[in-house]
Amino acid sequence: MTIIKDCISGKKNKVPMWLMRQAGRYLPEFRLIRQENQNFIKLCLNTKLSSEITLQPINRFNFDAAIIFSDILLVPYALGQQVNFKKDFGPELQKINLKELNEVKKEDFLKKLNPVYQTINNIKKKIPQEKDLIGFVGAPWTLLLYMVNRKSPKEGNFNLSYEDLDIHNILEKLDEFLKIHIEAQIENGASIIQIFDSWAGLLPEKDLENFIYRPTKSLVDFIKQKNIISICFPRNINNYKKFVENVEPDIINIDYNVDPSIIKNTIDIPIQGGLNPKILLQNKDIVKNEVTKYLKTFEKKRYIFNLGHGVLPETNPDMVKYLVDVVRKFNG
Ligand code: CP3
Repeated sequence: MTIIKDCISGKKNKVPMWLMRQAGRYLPEFRLIRQENQNFIKLCLNTKLSSEITLQPINRFNFDAAIIFSDILLVPYALGQQVNFKKDFGPELQKINLKELNEVKKEDFLKKLNPVYQTINNIKKKIPQEKDLIGFVGAPWTLLLYMVNRKSPKEGNFNLSYEDLDIHNILEKLDEFLKIHIEAQIENGASIIQIFDSWAGLLPEKDLENFIYRPTKSLVDFIKQKNIISICFPRNINNYKKFVENVEPDIINIDYNVDPSIIKNTIDIPIQGGLNPKILLQNKDIVKNEVTKYLKTFEKKRYIFNLGHGVLPETNPDMVKYLVDVVRKFNG
């Protein structure tokens, strides 16, 4: 049993913790490597370095799970769409070529992403058995958005028509290849799969079924069949309860805009996350208060401590250490 599995099975009362973007720019040891590796995709596909980066936060903070250092946009990349990460801009994708997309072969896709699977294999051997190794994918909706919009969308409504045949075509391909990517991560040692739907909050209610519930559930069912735990993070979705009822993941990660006490009273599956990452830029008293609020709210529930989005680059690693101490102390 891992620490997270003990928690979600209700066997132990201890709150496990890990952080989204725990490996990343707030760590000087990451920035050092990044400086010398300007091409971000190449860095993700460098097994030696991505293994080292995955372990950096584990070595520093002894988190209860490792999340593989990679990116959700490696899937569009492996499907033939070029991806560049531009400084102070974010990702920029080349125009999609549907003909090429429809001709991608499973073997070629797996070959392109093979270094990711090698990293997972590597890490699995290096971390203690009680720690989970988290693999991940972007949810179909969020990936579709990046592939069509070719950069991060602005907040606000985003209109894609479900009746559009090209959109259908892309969603079908995503379902097929995300399952291939999930399967390969599991075969190489991932014991949990998190599905990141960072732009779930952009969709109006009427589109949730077609763009979010159904495509995400298809992946969750696939993960369940393999006896692996799924975590969903439909960031900024209006109604988490409805999402959970429709998609039925094992664990739900909440963002920082929802009131945790409402979540506590309406959702019965294990909960993860919630704390606003900006809190880690405040002083220790504020951090302690806010963290304790989440811990207390979910005291009688199955709760995994995490944030409501990724660690911000400007976060002081000492504050992350303090955060870890507060959560560990609460556990007694
Ligand atoms: O530690 C971890 O969480 C594992 C690694 C990880 C990265 N990206 C590394 C990364 C994970 C799980 C992701 C997921 C991801 N990638 C998401 C979903 C979660 C979220 O943040 O909403 C999304 C939307 C992406 C796409 C992406 N990758 C963007 C928009 C950007 C640029 C802006 C940003 O948020 O950093 C990236 C780059 C990226 N992915 C970095 C890292 C460490 C920063 C690279 C750098 O500039 O040095």
